[in-house]
Amino acid sequence: MSAAAAAGAGAGVPDGEHVLLSVGPVVPVVVLDDVEHAVPLARALAAGGIRVMEVTLRTPAGLGSIERVAAEVPDVLVGAGSVASGEQVAAVSRAGGQFLVLPGAPPSLLDAALDSGLPVVPGAATVTEVMVLAERGVALVKFFPAEPSGGTRFLDAVRGPLPGLRFCPTGGVGPANARDYLALPNVPCVGGSWVTPPELVRSGQWDRVTELAAQASALATD
Ligand code: 3PG
Repeated sequence: MSAAAAAGAGAGVPDGEHVLLSVGPVVPVVVLDDVEHAVPLARALAAGGIRVMEVTLRTPAGLGSIERVAAEVPDVLVGAGSVASGEQVAAVSRAGGQFLVLPGAPPSLLDAALDSGLPVVPGAATVTEVMVLAERGVALVKFFPAEPSGGTRFLDAVRGPLPGLRFCPTGGVGPANARDYLALPNVPCVGGSWVTPPELVRSGQWDRVTELAAQASALATD
């Protein structure tokens, strides 16, 4: 199934897990300064076996980059990260974004995201925050910021009291610890910026990005 088809199949389902899990265990968290970098970056990731990218809305180029990738690279699932307002949810929807990642989930933001019909991966870093999300039907939670919030020890400890919930940890995850996270039964994917270092993106070193993507893809089978 193409990434776009996977997204379509999941439209309206709140937890987002079906989409992200259909495209692999590593979700690159991308910060772009220039919309012209978006399409070559998406193609470089795909060449390395990664068919998903979370483009953060931390820069003005974020939204336009999502629009470009959604229109021009159908085999890469493109979503928005760092989504922090209802206005941004609506803008991502208009731009053709295929999923939403929230760093945290204050009620009004979570409502707007779930109402959008897009798959949503909301952030949480405590047991209570995770339980609030579970009450809303969320089954895949962004555990953020993962390393400062207890890392693999936190996720291992909540397996018993929070069965059925799965986590995509981000924040301090990289090649040195991604395997440890992915070895946990409640961690089907990890996210992070290490696959798309800003210096490689700014200088257009797409072959290097493809190499990093291929190494990250291999984490699934190691
Ligand atoms: C995120 O938005 O998920 C994080 O900022 C990514 O964190 P990292 O840069 O430590 O990978």
